[in-house]
Amino acid sequence: MEQEAQSFFDSAPPLRCRDDVVASVNRFLDIWKAASAIGQTRRIAIVTSGGTTVPLERRCVRVIDNFSSGSRGAASTEYFLASDYAVIFLHRRQAALFFSFANGDATFVKYFLEDLCSHFAARCRIILYKNVSSLWMDQSGAVLQKKLLKLEFTTLFEYLQILEIVGAAMKPVGRHAMFYFAAAVSDFYVPWNSMMEHKIQSDDGSMTMQLAPVPKMLGLLRKHWAPEAFCVSFKLETDVDILLKKARSSLCKYGMHAVVANELETRKNKVVVVTRKVEMVLEKGDCPDIELPLVNCLVARQTMYLQQQQA
Ligand code: PMT
Repeated sequence: MEQEAQSFFDSAPPLRCRDDVVASVNRFLDIWKAASAIGQTRRIAIVTSGGTTVPLERRCVRVIDNFSSGSRGAASTEYFLASDYAVIFLHRRQAALFFSFANGDATFVKYFLEDLCSHFAARCRIILYKNVSSLWMDQSGAVLQKKLLKLEFTTLFEYLQILEIVGAAMKPVGRHAMFYFAAAVSDFYVPWNSMMEHKIQSDDGSMTMQLAPVPKMLGLLRKHWAPEAFCVSFKLETDVDILLKKARSSLCKYGMHAVVANELETRKNKVVVVTRKVEMVLEKGDCPDIELPLVNCLVARQTMYLQQQQA
């Protein structure tokens, strides 16, 4: 597996913004280290969100996409911030719903809100303005306080290269780091060195394409990058009969601390958190969304994980 991962990284097109990503992750960690040095160790959640694309041509016209709106990752990020975590939000470009204003400038947001509000009756207008502007203030506040770092990807190549940078950087954070893998990552891809340069032509009618399996990076993360971090992956299936079996198997296979099993149709109302000792069914019930009980549950599990170390 390690060899497959190495050849994936060796052959991937170099990440254009690599230096910026490394610098911003280091800056974020420096703040964390400075706070830890004075006894204010904050937990860090690394939330991955949205689907990766697999390009079919180097000068890309077509892609294979993965299903994910990014709303689970975005909502969870809000709850982690509310639980006083610092968050690295690794998300698909334009998929993040709640954080799209976070780095915007105030004038743009003001005009956007005014325009949006003009379509509503007076009473709704006030409520909407108040809520959306306070949401924006919360998010931009988190960025300004250096509690939130947003990193963007579109392709599988970008996602895995950024994940490697963030993963390896989290080693010193130890058990205070939580990886929350809500992204839907492609299982198959076209290796860069066997990819067509130009747009694939359709003159010959049908087309057969050979896809290679994407190396699973979760094992590498657990073994080498950040072996002490608390790791949560997700399992999405459309067939409820195989869901729990697959979730249990990925718990063991990749040494996860928890796997969140969700079924496509019901994913917004119900999830099952699978751990080695217990399986917890969580339902949205009266909560605004399922991410609230889910994040609360995982925060509590990480607290137990930290206590085990101290015992
Ligand atoms: O974004 P929403 O519309 O709100 O939907 C949320 C969701 C349904 C996408 C999310 O809850 C979810 O289930 N995400 C994982 C989807 C999935 O089944 O992924 P997977 O089976 O391809 O991978 C399993 C786990 O390994 C995932 O946590 C994935 O992030 C991770 N993975 C996968 C492949 C790979 N090469 N490396 C990985 O790390």
